[in-house]
Amino acid sequence: CVPGTLRKTIVLVGMMGAGKTAVGRALAARLKVPFLDSDHEIETAANMSIPEIFARDGEPFFREKEYQVICRLLKEECGILSTGGGAFLAPRNRKVISETGVAVCLQADLDVLWKRVKGRDSRPLLRSNNPYQTLTDLYNARVPIYAQADLVVASDGQVSIEAMVDRVLEA
Ligand code: S3P
Repeated sequence: CVPGTLRKTIVLVGMMGAGKTAVGRALAARLKVPFLDSDHEIETAANMSIPEIFARDGEPFFREKEYQVICRLLKEECGILSTGGGAFLAPRNRKVISETGVAVCLQADLDVLWKRVKGRDSRPLLRSNNPYQTLTDLYNARVPIYAQADLVVASDGQVSIEAMVDRVLEA
């Protein structure tokens, strides 16, 4: 990225519902640096929502766009980049993130994640007969990969967004 206040972009990774967008926005405001969000950029470029993109073009298309957007955003002024929950799973994303950024995983327990995502319709991967089981399966498969982030910051159910910003900065 182009150095400004920060020398590297802080890339927030982790499960859906971990707070990447909310904490990322607050962290950027606190540091007075740009806030970037890969899902939001993909939606804006496509003029469609994430569920619409998945339905019309499929997940592989979305993952390709996700990679392109992450590469592009990592070249902009250094700031805070929130990524979608699947982004850090792709080796090419991990590679480009580790080359130019600092990966910070927001880690929350399954029950906390479930409370935050249940009943929402914005996450196509959870559209199954048993979304809780789907979330559990994704969680179990992904946690070891998120652990490869440079830093892992715990986000339990009670902690406020501003307290999470404090935790990230301490880490
Ligand atoms: C996904 C998470 C979503 C979004 C897409 C796929 C995933 O982002 O990128 O629905 O694979 O976990 P959030 O983590 O912001 O929900």
